[in-house]
Amino acid sequence: MSRSAHPAGPRHADVLPEGHPSAPPADLNHLDRKVWASTVTRTPEGVVSVGGVEVTRLAEEFGTPAYFLDETDFRERARAWRTAFGSDADVFYAGKAFLSRAVVRWLHDEGLNLDVCSGGELTTALSAGMPADRIAFHGNNKSVEEIETAIRAGVGRIVLDSFQEIVRVSHIAQSLGKRQRVQIRITVGVEAHTHEFIATAHEDQKFGIPLAGGQAAEAVRRALQLDGLELVGIHSHIGSQIFDMSGFEVAAHRVVGLLKDIRDEHGVELPEIDLGGGLGIAYTSDDDPREPHEIAKALTEIVSRECEGAKLRTPRISVEPGRAIVGPTAFTLYEVGTIKPLDGLRTYVSVDGGMSDNIRTALYDAEYSVALVSRTSEAAPMLVRVVGKHCESGDIVVKDAFLPADLAPGDLIAVPATGAYCRSMASNYNHALRPPVVAVREGEARVIVRRETEEDLLRLDVG
Ligand code: LLP
Repeated sequence: MSRSAHPAGPRHADVLPEGHPSAPPADLNHLDRKVWASTVTRTPEGVVSVGGVEVTRLAEEFGTPAYFLDETDFRERARAWRTAFGSDADVFYAGKAFLSRAVVRWLHDEGLNLDVCSGGELTTALSAGMPADRIAFHGNNKSVEEIETAIRAGVGRIVLDSFQEIVRVSHIAQSLGKRQRVQIRITVGVEAHTHEFIATAHEDQKFGIPLAGGQAAEAVRRALQLDGLELVGIHSHIGSQIFDMSGFEVAAHRVVGLLKDIRDEHGVELPEIDLGGGLGIAYTSDDDPREPHEIAKALTEIVSRECEGAKLRTPRISVEPGRAIVGPTAFTLYEVGTIKPLDGLRTYVSVDGGMSDNIRTALYDAEYSVALVSRTSEAAPMLVRVVGKHCESGDIVVKDAFLPADLAPGDLIAVPATGAYCRSMASNYNHALRPPVVAVREGEARVIVRRETEEDLLRLDVG
C-alpha cells in the first residue's frame, strides 16, 4: 500500500475538545530526543530511520505492526548502568520488561546480571548462555519445579517472598544436597508515587514480607536457622515508573535499619542489599527521567551514609532496572487503516495492532506519544486518539496526541518508548498474532523474536 499522503485525507485541524491538556507541538515533524531511541532520526527525504534503516524499508521487509529495537541504544543504556554503579555494585536487568535470547547475549556482553521471575524466563536466560550464578530468581509463588530447576542450575540467588517459601526452598535445597544463596524481599511501607498496580512497597499487597510488626525480622530468624539456605541479603522493590528518588531513600534507610537489627540480634552483617528497579522513563516530552549516574550516586551515598550511622560495613548494592534500559530503545510501527473524524470530539485513527501489542494504555492509563514516520507533513495538527483493531472501545494505544491533518490510510505511524512491558505483555486477544521484535544496528535489521503465525495459534488448539 502507498506510504504517501492520501489526497482525500480528513481535515480536522480546528477541533480541540474543551479542557484538552496540551497544545499541539510547534513542529509535528520534530522527533523529541527524550522519547526516541538514540539512533532514530529523520532522513533528508523525511522518512524516519533507526540504526540507519528507514522505517518504510522495515515495514516492507518485516510488516506491521512490529517492534523495532535499537540495539546500539540498548547496549549503551546497559553499559551506562553498569558503569554508573561500578565494580562495587551489581546491575540485574529485569527480564520481565522484555526478554529474548539476543537480549540475554547483549547483557552478558555488557557485564550485566539478570533478574528472572518465572521458569520460562530462567530457561530463556540459561539457553542463551547467561551463567547461572549471574541470575536472580524472583516471584511471590514460585512452583516447586521452578525452585528445583533454579537450584539445580546454580542460580546466584533466590529472592524469598513468603514464610512458606523460606521453608520450601530450604527443603528443596537440602534434598538436592545444596546450600542456596537467598535474599528476603521485604516491604518497607513506602507509598511510591506511581500507578496503584505498579506500586509495591506499601504493606497491603502480595509481594514481600512486611517490615512492620516484626515480620521481616522473624523471616530473617527462620532463614538463618534453616539448613540449605545461605542468607546473603535483604531485597526491596518499591514500584515502577518512579521519578522521585525520595521513595528509594526511605527504602534504603529502612533496609539498613533492618541490617542493623540483624547485626544486633544475630551478630551477623548481611553482605548484600538489593534496592530493586522502578526508575521511570520518558513516555512523552513532559517526563524528565534521571540518568543512571545520578541514580547510582544517590543510592550509593544514602546506603553508605546510613551504614556509617549504624556502624555497619557497607553492603554490596544491587539494582534491577528493566524499563530504564529497554523501554526507550524500541518503537512500535503501525500502518494507519482508517481515519474517523467525529465532529466536535476528536479523530479516531485506527492502526493494525492495539491492546494486544500494548496493553499499558488500557491497564494503567499510560501516556504515549506518536509520530507520522513515513513522511513529513506541513499540514495543521489534528487531535487524534490512536486506537487498535480489537473488539473493545478501551482498545486505545495513544489517548490524546496530535498528528498532521493530512494523515491518510497507508501512512506509517510510530509509538516510541514501547521497549518495556509491551511485547512482554502482548496477548493473542481476538486471535491477534503477536508482532515480531526486530533489532536494528548499523544498517542491519534482524528478527530476534519472530511474528506469530496462524499455524502457531492452531498448534496450541488441540481440541
Ligand atoms: N525488580 C523487581 C522485583 C520487580 O518486580 C520489577 C518490576 C523490576 C525489578 C523492574 O522494574 P522496572 O525497572 O522495569 O520498572 N507491567 C508494568 C510494570 C510491572 C513491573 C513489575 N516489576 C508496566 O508496564 O508498567
